[in-house]
Amino acid sequence: MKVDVLLGLQWGDEGKGKIVDVLTPDYDIIARFQGGPNAGHTLEFNGIKHVLHTIPSGIFHANVVNLVGNGVVIDPVIFKGELDKLAPFNIDFENRLLLSKKAHLILPTHRLLDAASETAKGKNKIGSTLKGIGPTYMDKTGRNGLRVGDIFSPNFQEKYDALVEKHVGMLKHYEGFEYDLSSLEKPWMDAIESLKNLQAVDSEHYLNTALLNGKRVLAEGAQGTMLDIDFGTYPFVTSSNTVTAGTCTGLGIAPTRIGKVIGIFKAYCTRVGSGPFPTELDDEVGEEIRKEGREFGATTGRPRRCGWIDLVQMRYAIMINGVTELSMMKADVLSIFDKISVCTHYLVNGEKVYDFPFDVSDLDFTPVYEELEGWNCDLTELSDYESAPDALKKYVTYLEAQLNVPINVVSVGPDRKQTLANH
Ligand code: GDP
Ligand code: IMO
Ligand code: MG
Repeated sequence: MKVDVLLGLQWGDEGKGKIVDVLTPDYDIIARFQGGPNAGHTLEFNGIKHVLHTIPSGIFHANVVNLVGNGVVIDPVIFKGELDKLAPFNIDFENRLLLSKKAHLILPTHRLLDAASETAKGKNKIGSTLKGIGPTYMDKTGRNGLRVGDIFSPNFQEKYDALVEKHVGMLKHYEGFEYDLSSLEKPWMDAIESLKNLQAVDSEHYLNTALLNGKRVLAEGAQGTMLDIDFGTYPFVTSSNTVTAGTCTGLGIAPTRIGKVIGIFKAYCTRVGSGPFPTELDDEVGEEIRKEGREFGATTGRPRRCGWIDLVQMRYAIMINGVTELSMMKADVLSIFDKISVCTHYLVNGEKVYDFPFDVSDLDFTPVYEELEGWNCDLTELSDYESAPDALKKYVTYLEAQLNVPINVVSVGPDRKQTLANH
C-alpha cells in the first residue's frame, strides 16, 4: 500500500483538519509527520467545534489509529490538555493514539527561548506561535534534544536537567528577559507521567508493517508549504519541512511509498504572523474576508491577514509537493463579492514572472490580477456540486486549467457535511 498525503499549499489554516476528518473513513491510520502545537486544526460536526493541536484529525472515528510521528514535536502539557478535553468522547486512547518514540519533546525552556528570541527580534520578529517550535527543532538538529523514548529511561531527569542547564545559560544572553521556570516544571513533569499511559512505538516499523499488511495510511500535514523551512518565505517560516518530502523523514516512509498528494487551499489566501504576502489586501476588502471567513487563528486567536488567491505561489506549492488533486476550501466566504480577483503572475521590472521568486520581501514587484465573476449566493446549503452556481463552477474550472490539477473537493462551510465532491 501507499501513503496518501494531505497538506496545506498556502500559509497554513487552509482547512486541513476538516478534510482529514472527512476522509478518515477511507483510512486505517492517520499520521502527523511534522510540526507540533503551533498547529490548530478545526473539525466541526454534530454542532460541535473541536480544535486539535498535536493529536491527528482522525481521532473522532472509531477503529482508526492516530499516530504522532517522529517528525512531530510534542509539548506534554498541551498534549495532556488535548487529551483532557477529549475525555467526554470516550476515545480508546490506549489503542488508538500512538506516539513515536523518536518524536522530540518541547521543554518549558524551549518555550521561554522562543519568547526571548521573538522579543529580542523586535519589529523583525517571526510572529511565532510561541510554542517553542523553533528552539525544539534547533535542539533536534543540534543533537541535544529529548525524545519520547527517553521518558522511560532511568536517567531521564538527568538528561532533562542537563538540557535545561544549557537553556538557562542561553537565556542569560537575553538581557532583561524575566521568567519563572519552577512554576512551569511541575505541570510539565506531571504531563510526562500521563504521556506514559499511551503506547510509545517504533513508528517507522509500525507504519511500514501496517502498509505491508494492506492498511491504508493518510499523512496529515501541519502549517503550509509557504511556511516550509526550505521552500517557504524564509526566515518567516516554521522550523520543519511541511511539504510532501517531510512525510518521508517525519514518518520513516520511503519516497516510493507516497501515493496521492492532496493539496488543500482556500479559495482566497490568508497568513498569520509576519512575513511577505504578495496578494495581501490591507484594505476593507481584506477586512470583509476576515469578517466573513472568521479569519482568526485557531491556536493564538490572532487576526489572520487576508488577500486574493495567488497562482504564482500555488503553482510553486503544487510543484514542490507533487500535488495530484486539490481541495478548495471556504468557497462560501467569497459569496459576498460581485467580482473575485486571482493573481496570475507578478510584474518585476516590466517582466512577467510566473515562478515564485527567491525572496519576495525585498523584491519590487506587482501582483497582476484577472477578475472573475462572483456567484453572490449562499452556498452553505448545497448538497452536491452539480447544483452549484455556474459562476462557482467557472471559478473552479478556471483554477484547474491554470494549475493543471483537478479540484476534487469544494468546501462550502466548516461542517463535515458542507463538503462537495467534484469529478
Ligand atoms: P487547518 O489548520 O488547516 O486545519 O485550518 P484551521 O482549522 O486553522 O482554519 C480553518 C478554519 O476555517 C476553521 O475555523 C474551520 O472550521 C473553517 N473552515 C474550514 N472549511 C471551511 C469552509 O469551507 N467554509 C468556511 N466558512 N469555513 C471553513
Ligand atoms: P496549521 O497547522 C498558520 C506560523 C506562525 C509564524 C510562523 C512560525 O494550523 O495550519 P512557529 O510557532 O511555527 O515557530 O511560527 O509560522 N504558523 C502557522 N500559521 N497555521 C499554522 O498551523 C501555523 N503554525 C505556525 O504564525 O508566522
Ligand atoms: Mg490552523
